[in-house]
Amino acid sequence: MAKLLSLLAVAQLGAAIDNGLGRTPPLGWRSWNLYNRNVNQSLMEAIMDGMVSKKRQVDGVPTSLCDLGYCDVGLDDNWQNCDGGQKYHYHGDSGIPIINQSRFPDMVAMTAHAHRLGLTAGWYLNNCICSEGTSTDAMYQSDVAALTVFNFDGVKLDGCGKQLDLDKWAQLLNGTGRKVLIENCHWGRTVPNATWCPWNFFRTSGDVRASYGSVVGNLQTTTEWAQKNLSRPGCWGYPDMLEVGVPGLSYQESRSHFAAWAIVSSPLVLSMDVNNDKVMDDVWDIISNKEILAVNQAWAGHSGSPFKQANRTVQLPDYFMRIQGVVVPYKEQVHSWQFFYKPVGDNKVAVLLMNHDTAAQDLVLNFSEVPGLKCQKCQVRCLFKHKDLGSHETSFTSKSVASHDSRMFLLSDASVEFVYA
Ligand SMILES: *[C@@H]1O[C@H](CO)[C@@H](O)[C@H](O)[C@H]1NC(C)=O
Ligand SMILES: *[C@@H]1O[C@H](CO)[C@@H](O)[C@H](O)[C@H]1NC(C)=O
Ligand SMILES: *[C@@H]1O[C@H](CO)[C@@H](O)[C@H](O)[C@H]1NC(C)=O
Ligand SMILES: *[C@@H]1O[C@H](CO)[C@@H](O)[C@H](O)[C@H]1NC(C)=O
Ligand SMILES: *[C@@H]1O[C@H](CO)[C@@H](O)[C@H](O)[C@H]1NC(C)=O
Ligand SMILES: *[C@@H]1O[C@H](CO)[C@@H](O)[C@H](O)[C@H]1NC(C)=O
Ligand SMILES: *[C@@H]1O[C@H](CO)[C@@H](O)[C@H](O)[C@H]1NC(C)=O
Repeated sequence: MAKLLSLLAVAQLGAAIDNGLGRTPPLGWRSWNLYNRNVNQSLMEAIMDGMVSKKRQVDGVPTSLCDLGYCDVGLDDNWQNCDGGQKYHYHGDSGIPIINQSRFPDMVAMTAHAHRLGLTAGWYLNNCICSEGTSTDAMYQSDVAALTVFNFDGVKLDGCGKQLDLDKWAQLLNGTGRKVLIENCHWGRTVPNATWCPWNFFRTSGDVRASYGSVVGNLQTTTEWAQKNLSRPGCWGYPDMLEVGVPGLSYQESRSHFAAWAIVSSPLVLSMDVNNDKVMDDVWDIISNKEILAVNQAWAGHSGSPFKQANRTVQLPDYFMRIQGVVVPYKEQVHSWQFFYKPVGDNKVAVLLMNHDTAAQDLVLNFSEVPGLKCQKCQVRCLFKHKDLGSHETSFTSKSVASHDSRMFLLSDASVEFVYA
């Protein structure tokens, strides 16, 4: 009987994890890109303050990052005391995770700080720094117990140590009765199928870097999951954090990066210094673009993928993909341009036209080639400029799109009166 019950419980895990979270792509911030190993509690708390600051505006209204949906603040690697254990590195013999108290004097106070501000707080486990060559049930259990005591709301499960059993994590977390947002960070090594997904989002790629080639390489790793319809509510494909606002990308590259992550329904996890006015002023219109955020959050049965690309190819420095843990440098080149689509419901389709080439070029969108688009005469709305571009017969040409820049449009039937809510 006990066996039968446990089989039933497993069967119920079903198509996506049933914790009620991540029904739309999660939005937030995570510490790795900005602080790397040098993270600590006061830095995290200052970021939390920045996430709710209403210093900037959207449409004349003071608006915080959390007002826009970026409400989850995740701690990444290096909270642990690497010399804390006897038998292991950062786990005690009994399995308890050992905190570096000089960096994190009070985890409970840190998550309380987040909760007081209306944010959620994410933790990080199966660490890479001083990863352990072994795993025990006690480690899994004690990590989950610690997460509960510390009051975390989410966890990134990295791929470095040996605690790689995502069913075990999901069952233990479920057993706490607490809803915990789970990130599978196995770099494409542990992936969902139609009936199994014991996490809320999964890394499709290796780590992204702040270069256009890396962004475009990671972007391609989402396509397989969109085409198989395996990036879906509660189980989103994720090509890593956003490098928007991190030195290395131009303004045009940053908006292409953001729009691309949005149109493939990726979780949008910021990683810049949200308290740096120069950085925030530079990227604010990109990350606060509500129309693009709405495309990211929409669900009409397909998570977004390329539908057309140039035959001509170009070389992008730093273009590589990491598939199932193996880095595949792209000796062959990337398409000169690439068009993505995502249906957003109500017969509307969002498209992103990306110019990967080294020079500006005209990009011609042929409406009849956009999957799911029914109109021949279509309304075109520019989501970068928040501007209706009128109705057009059969096609629309974007003139002189700069190198590494893009255009994002919302297309809808011109015979239907256009109302954008
Ligand atoms: C635990 O799993 C069950 C079965 O899938 C589900 O109904 C329940 O909501 C889950 N609870 C939490 C807290 O995730
Ligand atoms: C703990 O953090 C302190 C302060 O940053 C650092 O100097 C020390 O090396 C860390 N200890 C361990 C064992 O990681
Ligand atoms: C965190 O790091 C900052 C910058 O190095 C430092 O000013 C602060 O005192 C540190 N806080 C803790 C708790 O270690
Ligand atoms: C999905 O993956 C799970 C876990 O590996 C496996 O048990 C199950 O048989 C797979 N289902 C399908 C339809 O492939
Ligand atoms: C994709 O799967 C979701 C459920 O996860 C379903 O609602 C949707 O209709 C499917 N889309 C297609 C195109 O089959
Ligand atoms: C690419 O080449 C094929 C074969 O010549 C052709 O059918 C197709 O239209 C070309 N695609 C583009 C986008 O030019
Ligand atoms: C648009 O695409 C359709 C279907 O592929 C094709 O028949 C038509 O010639 C294209 N129009 C233009 C202007 O390229």
